[in-house]
Amino acid sequence: MRRKLLLGNWKMNKTPTEAVEFAKEAKELGKLARSNKVDMGVCVPAVDLAPVKKILKNTLIVGAENCHYEEKGAYTGEISIPMLKDLNIDWVIIGHSERRTYDNETSEKCNKKILALLKNNMVPVYCCGESLETFENNGTREFVKEQIITGLKDVSKEDAMKVVIAYEPIWAIGTGKNASTEIAEDVCGYIRKVLRDIYGAKVANKIRILYGGSVKPNSVKAYLSQKDIDGALVGGASLDVNSYKELLTSYIY
Ligand code: 13P
Repeated sequence: MRRKLLLGNWKMNKTPTEAVEFAKEAKELGKLARSNKVDMGVCVPAVDLAPVKKILKNTLIVGAENCHYEEKGAYTGEISIPMLKDLNIDWVIIGHSERRTYDNETSEKCNKKILALLKNNMVPVYCCGESLETFENNGTREFVKEQIITGLKDVSKEDAMKVVIAYEPIWAIGTGKNASTEIAEDVCGYIRKVLRDIYGAKVANKIRILYGGSVKPNSVKAYLSQKDIDGALVGGASLDVNSYKELLTSYIY
């Protein structure tokens, strides 16, 4: 049985002051999630990690939005895995489409990051998803398959079980235009098939696959009721404690 996972992605939002305000209010939320056997957390900007983790350490998962694959060195502006480990941060979003679009993040680069995270016993949340053009040309499966195969190259069976995959169609991110539950399930089911072909059914059935793209309190339950959707990666609706709480309660009640 795969445990459900709700993960927020704050993107480039919230100053440390604002982040602390959220974290203080969100403590209760973590307890509610846990008592309902849902894993829940927020991935936050680098400068917010330390203060937010300090407040939420035993309640919500606190993750980063990116990391570098090298341990240290001349990479101005980057954040290393040892820096994250020092803050007890174990979860990192890798390959979000915004980073792929604006920061030249390729699946090859994601692969290096994923391997480095797994070597450190951390959890990569590996994002994949197609553009509107690819979707309209019926190219989704082929596109996503390539992202998965390249991103997970050389990841062992044992490590693959620790990876979380997030399917986020680019055309559904921040647009209010979400993929229907049928489309989301179809692609997430296909991703599981790709994983099965690489790792076998036993491993593929253990990997959590999230849907992301305009998930709101009124749609979360329908997504999470799908066979191959194990949770959601949530942007806008995770920025406000009340709407994030509503997301959880809409799912559990
Ligand atoms: P929205 O929920 O704001 O569409 O963002 C989705 C997303 O990109 C999460 O990573």
